[in-house]
Amino acid sequence: MLEWLSIAKGDLLDVEIQLIEIASKKLCLIKTDDCYYATATKCPHAGADLSKGWCEKGYLVCPIHRFQYRLENGRGAEGQGDYLPVYPVKDEGDFLIIGIKKSWFKFW
Ligand code: FES
Repeated sequence: MLEWLSIAKGDLLDVEIQLIEIASKKLCLIKTDDCYYATATKCPHAGADLSKGWCEKGYLVCPIHRFQYRLENGRGAEGQGDYLPVYPVKDEGDFLIIGIKKSWFKFW
């Protein structure tokens, strides 16, 4: 089950990749020419901060060992065999709405 949380675009930096915090969760927010993507911040390979990486041909590239993760679905590039958690983002004018998986313990 997803919890949809909003963040004002006015609170964002005008950069391609930035670290954001929403509902106490840190995410990597990527702005492309077409849309926004939200991913986990830690690289699945060895935990590097992906907000320090860059985008290349539809992939988020890790700044440490340059593993690549598809922006659309988090799938690692061919041969990596891993994936990066991604979160759905809706662009609602002045706000972005990001879907975060609800932790089971929040139901109690
Ligand atoms: S820590 Fe990201 S590729 Fe190694």
